[in-house]
Amino acid sequence: MAERKASRTAVLVCQGRAVADGRLAVGRFSDPIAIELLTAPEREMVGTARSGVMPSGFGARLEYELLKGTSEILAARTVAIDDVVRDRGHPQLVILGAGLDARAWRMKELAEATVYEIDQPASQQEKRERLGDRAPLAAAVHFVPVDFAKDSLGTALEAAGHDATIPTTWIWEGVIPYLTPAQVAATTAVVGEHSAAGSRLILNYATTSRLNAFGRRAVQRLLTLAGRDNPMANEPFRSAWSPETLRELLSRSGFDVTVDVGLLAVAHDLDMSIIERTRFLGSGRIAVADRD
Ligand SMILES: C[S@@+](CC[C@H](N)C(=O)[O-])C[C@H]1O[C@@H](n2cnc3c(N)ncnc32)[C@H](O)[C@@H]1O
Repeated sequence: MAERKASRTAVLVCQGRAVADGRLAVGRFSDPIAIELLTAPEREMVGTARSGVMPSGFGARLEYELLKGTSEILAARTVAIDDVVRDRGHPQLVILGAGLDARAWRMKELAEATVYEIDQPASQQEKRERLGDRAPLAAAVHFVPVDFAKDSLGTALEAAGHDATIPTTWIWEGVIPYLTPAQVAATTAVVGEHSAAGSRLILNYATTSRLNAFGRRAVQRLLTLAGRDNPMANEPFRSAWSPETLRELLSRSGFDVTVDVGLLAVAHDLDMSIIERTRFLGSGRIAVADRD
């Protein structure tokens, strides 16, 4: 199997957070680190989206729209997840498919937590280069390279020092769509085996909406037609879930779903006005599952 490249969708969602910072859900959403993790050309796209001035040219307009839609989704999704992470204040946080997630560098509530960042090796290596010597706000950060498709998450976690006898908060954000149902089930089982009583698993997943599947395909085709980079090109969409199927899967690993909410509803509660393109692309759901 060819070595995987660093994730481009991780860059896209980081750009979305950089666009949203200080502009969307102000007072509830903030990610000032996001812009610092981007390269100069990536920042330039963020600047255009933040300017609010639609660029000329079909390809540039498409990128602008994609980034604006992503920023709306990301502001809502980040607030929803941050709130339930703070709520527990666990000593361990495991971020599955961490990408350019900056929680360990921006959340002061993690000052006493040990954070384990799990990601496929190329994405993780690129993140470490982008971070440079930036110090985290978390007590410690351990980078644990794991490809869910071929590596043992359990073995890697144990080797990195994760303690399965004390509670863990797990974040699985923006990753499940890129895994097959079998990979999602296998990873959930490992999470269950390494979760002490009181642990919490926060998942972001895509639902089985035909409209959203059509929207995603259409955007990708249009990007290719316009000769633009398609950030989803090397990361095919592999799984969507209904709330019921996900609930059953989680209960088999000892987790009870206590919250399951659509991100459009979260955005509405944050008084964000979501534009039609975001509805079309789909925004996914957040489930919070706790273990007694
Ligand atoms: C859209 S990004 C989301 C990143 C981050 N969770 C966020 O929300 O900013 C998808 C992430 O999933 C990771 N990923 C996808 N497939 C994976 C696999 N088989 N094993 C490990 N990580 C994977 C990618 O490397 C990337 O970091």
